[in-house]
Amino acid sequence: MDLHKRLILQNQAWAEEQQEKNPELFKELASGQHPKFLWIGCSDSRVPVNEITDTHSGDMFVHRNIANMVVHTDLNLLSVLQYAVQVLKVEHIIVCGHYGCGGVKAAFEHGNLGLLNKWLRNIKDVYRLHGPELDVISNEEDKINRFIELNVEEQVQNLAKTSIVQQAWADGQKLLLHGWVFDIATGLVHDRELIDNANNLDDIYKYDIESGVKY
Ligand code: CO
Repeated sequence: MDLHKRLILQNQAWAEEQQEKNPELFKELASGQHPKFLWIGCSDSRVPVNEITDTHSGDMFVHRNIANMVVHTDLNLLSVLQYAVQVLKVEHIIVCGHYGCGGVKAAFEHGNLGLLNKWLRNIKDVYRLHGPELDVISNEEDKINRFIELNVEEQVQNLAKTSIVQQAWADGQKLLLHGWVFDIATGLVHDRELIDNANNLDDIYKYDIESGVKY
């Protein structure tokens, strides 16, 4: 059987099973979503958000891209962020990277990968920011793992640099930014960073929210 046909069959079995467990489930889900979390994760097939956090339909608003990046010119990410914060009013945004990330590894190397070069440039910039710390790590695996952790921390900072997040904080909206790194080899998440205000943000990135236009 073609692999894709198997997916359809599995979907039918899944829908039946859910219906049996909770006959109201699909009716409830169809009426709207109220997730408390926005997940920004890597596209890697081994980091499926609902599976690793044991959550269900309706729990997570999700954006995924190569190496869980928060790029300030990415209209896709920014649209997801704006909707999640202003309309859904999620209370937590989780940037989740993972050890063994192929995107970060590719950014560490020098392959000429065409269009991917432009995406990986954003990750190379993280290396340059943290060059003095990363350059002195001699073991290559340790170096890439640290690069992965620092990349997550920078992406959390990038969220705090957006006017969307700063406006929410200025309005007194509860919004916590988390940086996680998932370890595929153990199945465990390492909780590395938490930001709930703009206080520690480098001053140059702070907007004068009161005087500014609303987006
Ligand atoms: Co990855």
